[in-house]
Amino acid sequence: MLDINYIREEFPITKKCFQVYGSTEPKNLIYLDHGASTHPCSTVLNKYIDFIKNYYSNVHRGKHYLSMISTELFDRVYETIFNFINASKPDNAIVLTANTTSALDMTAWLMKDHDGITLISLMEHHSNDLPHRHRGETMHFGVNKDGSLDLDDLEAKLKNNKVKLVAVTGASNVTGYINDIHKIAELAHKHGARILVDAAQLLAHRQIDVKPNDDPQHIDFLAAAGHKAYAPFGSAFLFGPRDVLDRVQPYTPGGGTVLFVSEHDYIYASSPDRHQGGTPNIAGAIALAESLNFLSKAGLDNIRQHEVELTEYALNRLKEVPEINLLGDIAAEDRLGVITFNIGELSNGLVADILNHEAAIATRNGRFCAHPYLSFLLGRDDSEQIITRLRSGEKFDIGGAVRISFGIFNTESEVDDVVENLKMIANRKWKAKYDNDAAYFDCKGVQLSAS
Ligand SMILES: Cc1ncc(COP(=O)(O)O)c(C=O)c1O
Repeated sequence: MLDINYIREEFPITKKCFQVYGSTEPKNLIYLDHGASTHPCSTVLNKYIDFIKNYYSNVHRGKHYLSMISTELFDRVYETIFNFINASKPDNAIVLTANTTSALDMTAWLMKDHDGITLISLMEHHSNDLPHRHRGETMHFGVNKDGSLDLDDLEAKLKNNKVKLVAVTGASNVTGYINDIHKIAELAHKHGARILVDAAQLLAHRQIDVKPNDDPQHIDFLAAAGHKAYAPFGSAFLFGPRDVLDRVQPYTPGGGTVLFVSEHDYIYASSPDRHQGGTPNIAGAIALAESLNFLSKAGLDNIRQHEVELTEYALNRLKEVPEINLLGDIAAEDRLGVITFNIGELSNGLVADILNHEAAIATRNGRFCAHPYLSFLLGRDDSEQIITRLRSGEKFDIGGAVRISFGIFNTESEVDDVVENLKMIANRKWKAKYDNDAAYFDCKGVQLSAS
C-alpha cells in the first residue's frame, strides 16, 4: 500500500498555494496535470542538485576524478533503465534522448529503409504519428466506440498490407485507456512487423516488461521520458534491438558517435553511443534513473492500486456533475488515472480557466496533441474543414475537452474539491468574468497576472 503521507512529503509542490479569485485565503494547488509533466520529488531533486554541485563534468575519456565519477553515475543509468523495463542486455540497447518525441522520431528514422508501411493507431499522440508520416508510408488503424483500439482492424490491416512497424501507445494521454501491448506485439510479429510502444504515459504508472526478444509478445522499441515520471525535463530514452540500431547511420552524427575518423573515412561506434551525438543531458539522465529507483521503492503495484482506487472514486463522484460528458467509456482497471470531459456546451478553455482562477486546480484542456483521436471521441467529422479554414489563416476555436490526470500524490479529498467546483461550473455559478483573464496571486499576495 502506498504511504500517501510520505509520498506527499516527498513533493514540495504539494505545499504550493495560490490566492484564488474572490477569496483572501490562499488555497492549496491541486495539481491534476501529471499527464503533461510530473514534478520531481525531493529524492530526485537532491540527486540532481548533488550531481550539479559536486560532480558536474563531462563523461567518458576524462581521467580526472569528476569525469570518472560522472561517467560511472551516467553509465549506471542504462543499467537502471534496463532493469526497470525488465530488458535483456546483449541484443538490445538504450539510447538516451531529450524527450519521448525524439525517441519516437529516432525509431521512425531507424526503420525508414525497412520494407513496408508503418501502421499507426488512431489513438496516438502526434509524437507517435507525425514522425512516421515524415519518414515513409503510413496507415491508421481505428478505435472502437468506447475509445479502445480496434484490434480487428489492426489484424485486417496487418494481413492485407506489408507492415514493417506497428506504432502504438502503451496508454492514451486522452482517455487513459491501457492497451494490451503484448497482444498487439504478438499480432505484429505474426505478420512480420515490429512494434514501437510509446510508453510516455505508462512509465510512472504501470510495471513495464518488454520480455525477451525471442518471446512472440516482446516489445521491439519502447520510448519514454523522465518528465512524466517525476524527473526533471530533458531526459528520455529509446529501448530497441541492436540488429536495427547498429545497422543504421547515426541519428545525430558527431562527437561521441565514432570509433575513429580519418580525413576521408570514419567508423561509427555501436549503440548507444552511435546515436547519441554530442554531450548528453548527464544530470538529467542521472535524475531519471533516480526517479525510476524512487518508483521501484514505492512499488509499481502500490502506485497502480492507488491510481485505480482514486480513478474509480473520481469516476463515481463525477456522475454528480450535471451535464458532464466523459470521453471514452472505460473502467478504472483498464485505464490510467486520466479523465477527459466536457460540461454541456461550455468551452474547455473556460472550464479550465475557472478551475484555475477560482480553485487553484491545474488541469489541461484542448486536444492534447491527439487531434484525430479527439475528433473521433467528440464525434466530429470536420477535420478537413478545420484544416482548410486554418490554411486560409482563419483563427477560431478548434474545440476539445478538459483533462484531469492523476499522479502518485493525489488524494480523494482533492477529487472531492474538483467535483464541487465542477458542479459550481455546471450550475453557472462562477465568480469572475472570463472575457478577460482573472487576476490571480501567489500565497504572499504577489500578483502574477491581471485582467
Ligand atoms: C502519449 C504521449 N506520447 C508522447 C508524448 C510526447 O512526449 P514528450 O513531451 O516527452 O516528447 C506525450 C506528451 O504528452 C504523450 O502523452
